[in-house]
Amino acid sequence: MSSSDLEARLEALDKAHNGFPQEEIPQFVDLMQVYEGAMFEISTKLDILDSEFQVRFSHDPIHHLERRLKSVNSIIGKLERKELPMTIESIKDNLFDVAGIRVICNYRDDVYSVSNYLSAQSDIQVLRVKDYIKTPKQNGYRSLHVIYAVPVFLSSGPHYTPVEVQFRTIAMDYWASLEHALRYKSDLPDARFEEHSQTLLDCARSLQNVESQMQNIHRDINGAPQVEDA
Ligand code: GTP
Ligand code: MG
Repeated sequence: MSSSDLEARLEALDKAHNGFPQEEIPQFVDLMQVYEGAMFEISTKLDILDSEFQVRFSHDPIHHLERRLKSVNSIIGKLERKELPMTIESIKDNLFDVAGIRVICNYRDDVYSVSNYLSAQSDIQVLRVKDYIKTPKQNGYRSLHVIYAVPVFLSSGPHYTPVEVQFRTIAMDYWASLEHALRYKSDLPDARFEEHSQTLLDCARSLQNVESQMQNIHRDINGAPQVEDA
């Protein structure tokens, strides 16, 4: 994290005046640096897995990665929404998505192979798995969410830090981006919102079918068995 990023964070924190204790600000900056370290550790592991697949199988399972640290305002907003105390301890104990990585894969098989290889690594722990691919949400949302605990080595020793990783295919990402945009477009009349939500649910099913058919072609040309999962 650059010093200008840190300054911007401090400024936002000062402006927020949301009851976050001023004396905890230096600790907050330290904490964000630990989250950032954890996020880099996981994304490096993912880059290494992707290159290994490229060398061994001539196939890049990861289309691209996105990373973000939650903004100060979102952290404060989430603590408020959940009626949690506005303290460093409360962030550490309750927010598991301060560091977030999105892994966008080419195929569904890639989602599971990359996540399984990462989860099996002995230096990190799996804290929680939510598989919205096996069980999509009612609105049609699909993705595999895994929260990892990663050791970040500071002068005081290892600090196990959570990182939320969302694994999804290009099609799942394409869908989730539009659904997110619709959800935050608050000025739509209710009827139009409902109509678009229904259409999006249909789109989710269609994308799932297209994805399965393309997955099977990909398996066939790579000599893998066909699976009926559409
Ligand atoms: P919160 O972080 O408090 O919401 O709880 P959680 O971490 O238990 O939630 P969950 O793992 O279900 O979802 C976390 C993240 O997944 C969200 O911040 C979004 O990025 C994404 N997500 C979950 N559900 C949806 C959805 O219906 N649509 C879209 N576009 N994204 C979603
Ligand atoms: Mg979350």
